[in-house]
Amino acid sequence: MSTVARIKRTSTPQIRSRKGAEPLVCLTAYTTPMAQRLDPHVDLLLVGDSLGMVLYGFDSTLPVTLDMMIAHGAAVMRGSERACVIVDLPFGSYQASAEQAFRSAARVMAETGASGVKLEGGAEMAATVHFLTQRGIPVCGHVGLMPQAVNVAGGFKATGRSDEEAQQVRRDAEAVAAAGAFAVVLEGTLEPVAASITAGLPVPTIGIGASPACDGQILVSEDVFGLFSDFTPRFVKRYAELGDQISAAAQVYAQEVRARRFPGMEHCFLPKPPR
Ligand code: KIV
Repeated sequence: MSTVARIKRTSTPQIRSRKGAEPLVCLTAYTTPMAQRLDPHVDLLLVGDSLGMVLYGFDSTLPVTLDMMIAHGAAVMRGSERACVIVDLPFGSYQASAEQAFRSAARVMAETGASGVKLEGGAEMAATVHFLTQRGIPVCGHVGLMPQAVNVAGGFKATGRSDEEAQQVRRDAEAVAAAGAFAVVLEGTLEPVAASITAGLPVPTIGIGASPACDGQILVSEDVFGLFSDFTPRFVKRYAELGDQISAAAQVYAQEVRARRFPGMEHCFLPKPPR
């Protein structure tokens, strides 16, 4: 038996137990090096299907496949040891039936080693959330603005503006929580609506464009670090401008190569001097 002490990953029950306690710190990660940088600082790393837009340049998350999510989920697991890692089920991999959702989620769990999956949808997905959680698959819900439903909603629009919308988000959050979700992402939801849902829900809410009152916050890391410059949504705070640093560094590299200042002799393999 190995005597190496293993760091224990944060589990989904531990995330669940943070309801009303210290806010959960969550960020997205898609790759090993990003996961390595973020792991010491966060409670939860989400391998979000936002990778379709952020890494692959798609207009929406709809073209993302289960194989893509599994490849990136496994990469994030290799780069982390403390955070609870959750992988998004992509569009088309779970909506048809609870059985389809189980097959997709089981592949994610077996092939990545992640701690659970996230899926979008409210009351209409409650039976699926129940089916998965009863069969050993921890589920994080995702209600409010649901990017996979962009074509039904007619765009990436915040919700909860009318009483009807506010009631819908509340019903959705309550349905997935009652079905066994260990946490619920509340995206793009009017602040008072998100705060009031958080106050009444038995499991943690993780806000993005929601409310400071949520039990946790999540953002897309590339937005936070200035690596994704297509647009910056209102709810994003940029903590660094790494994109600008990459552009500046690439410019210097190009100048040095053109001027034959790079590589220098210190970067070359030289023959051994004769003895
Ligand atoms: O796909 C994603 O990154 C997400 C977060 C924005 C919550 O679902």
